[in-house]
Order: sequence, then structure tokens, then C-alpha cells
Amino acid sequence: MTHIVNTEQATAWNGPEGAHWAEQSGRDDAVNGELTMALLTAAEIGPRDHVVDIGCGTGESSRQAARYAAQGRVLGIDLSAVMLEHARAAVTAAGLPNVAFEQADAQVHPFADGQFDVAISQFGIMFFTEPVAGFRNIGRALRPGGRIAFLCPRDMAANAWYVAPLSALQTWRGSGGLPDSQMFSLADRGRLTEVLTGAGFVDVRPRPLDVPMGFGSSAGVAAEFYLGSGPVRSVLERSPELAPERARDILLDALRPYEGPDGVLIPGAHWLVTAGRP
Ligand SMILES: C[S@@+](CC[C@H](N)C(=O)[O-])C[C@H]1O[C@@H](n2cnc3c(N)ncnc32)[C@H](O)[C@@H]1O
Repeated sequence: MTHIVNTEQATAWNGPEGAHWAEQSGRDDAVNGELTMALLTAAEIGPRDHVVDIGCGTGESSRQAARYAAQGRVLGIDLSAVMLEHARAAVTAAGLPNVAFEQADAQVHPFADGQFDVAISQFGIMFFTEPVAGFRNIGRALRPGGRIAFLCPRDMAANAWYVAPLSALQTWRGSGGLPDSQMFSLADRGRLTEVLTGAGFVDVRPRPLDVPMGFGSSAGVAAEFYLGSGPVRSVLERSPELAPERARDILLDALRPYEGPDGVLIPGAHWLVTAGRP
């Protein structure tokens, strides 16, 4: 792996958080296909394009992008060895010869100048310690006239998939609002535009996209997902008085209102952002 500066993120995504996501990614009912399709449509990937997928995780968006870039190539970049292991296995199973993965920090990775036509990211680009530097590094890796398309969350308050279960736990603890999360670092439209233009991108277009997030077939499955996720584990670590069984019950109560015939779907408010390299 090349040099990393996002050490906290690397630790998190190489530890239980990465293992948790890798384990969950095999489940069809956890896939948010509508979001991936919206991202890839916005990216306008051509058949010969060379694409980089930033924070590709277990590689769902990389695999889908490879179908668009059938005579091109896709490189998925991620900090997490455990997630990339899953991504590589899935690419082999799908028989996609034009996808490769590299464990690297996209903020500082020494990509060759102009090596990609398109950069994409599905919720993998909000974690840079220095966002302008990170986006500048990605912009440098794009050819002149190349483009970026990515998804990131809008306001925390509008993302019930994050707020509803965590608030239920916080309320039980008698604790106030939710702590800030790096996940929402690009939620503010002005800030988002400032970061991208500061990094040299042009024609920056954030479009609001409201698509619910899927968390499995039932509230029970969703509660298990949340119990293993970073934000909930961090609440539990700070609350020794909250037994895991009690936490599961609290989560079940919070998640049942979102259970329906298509499983647990909880409102999500995202930005679908496109921008170009001049
Ligand atoms: C919320 S997950 C999204 C994963 C995947 N794109 C998906 O949609 O399932 C965020 C991912 O970004 C990766 N990530 C965070 N910061 C990164 C960085 N600086 N460079 C590369 N990957 C990073 C994490 O390792 C993690 O896999």
C-alpha cells in the first residue's frame, strides 16, 4: 500500500467496520441498486473509458461501472484490505477481466497524471482529512475534459437511516443530540461547491437525490446490521450500562416503522454531484 494520511479511517475500515461491511455486502437485500444506477448514469461512462472508483469498498459500483466500460478499465481504490479482498473475489466470480483494485489512500495516492477519463464514488469520498487536497489529487488523475460523479449524504437530520436508530439509543441513554460524523462533511451545498472549485473542478453540479436506504428483509435483520456498524458500536462502547440485548430491542422498535413488503427501507437524502476537470 502507498503512503496513507487518513490513518483513523484506515484503522476503522481495516478493523471491525470493514469486516462488518464486507460481511453485509453479500446480501442482495442490502444492495442499494437504485443509487448505484443513478451514479453511473450521471457519470456517463463510455465503453472505452478508464474509470477510478474512490472508496470502492466491496466493489459493487466498480463491477457495475465495468459493464459500461466494457472495452475500458476500472480501478477501485480503498483503504480497507478486508473489503478489497471481498471485492476481488466478487470480480473473479463475475468474470470481469477489466476490473482491478488497489489498497491506497485516494487523498495522496500518486496516480499518474491524467490516467483516468472518469472518477466515481459511492459514499467513499467524504472522509478526507484535507478534502481540497483529496479532490485535487483525484482531479490531477483525470485527463483534461475528464469528469467526476459521486454520491454523498446531505444533512444528517434528513437522513432518517442514520438518525432514527441512533437517536433511539441516545434517548435511552438520556443523552442529547447526535455527535457530528465525518460522513456528513460534504452535506452543506456551499461547502461542497467550495471544496470542489478549490480543488480545480469546474461545472460543479450537486443535485439532491432522495432514495431510501435498504437494510434487509426485516427489522431483525436491520437491527443486526446496525449493531455491527461503527456509529452504534461507538454508542455502545460509551454506554457500558446498555446491554446488547436491550440495544437490540431499542433498535427493533426504532426500525419496525420502516418495515414493509420490500424489507426495511429508511429515507436517505443524498447529493449526486457531477463536475469536470478543465
Ligand atoms: C461508506 S463506505 C462505502 C463503500 C462502497 N463505495 C459502497 O458503496 O458500499 C466508505 C468507503 O470509503 C473508503 N475510504 C475512506 N476514506 C478513504 C480514502 N482516503 N481513500 C480510499 N478509500 C477511502 C473506506 O475504506 C470505505 O470502504
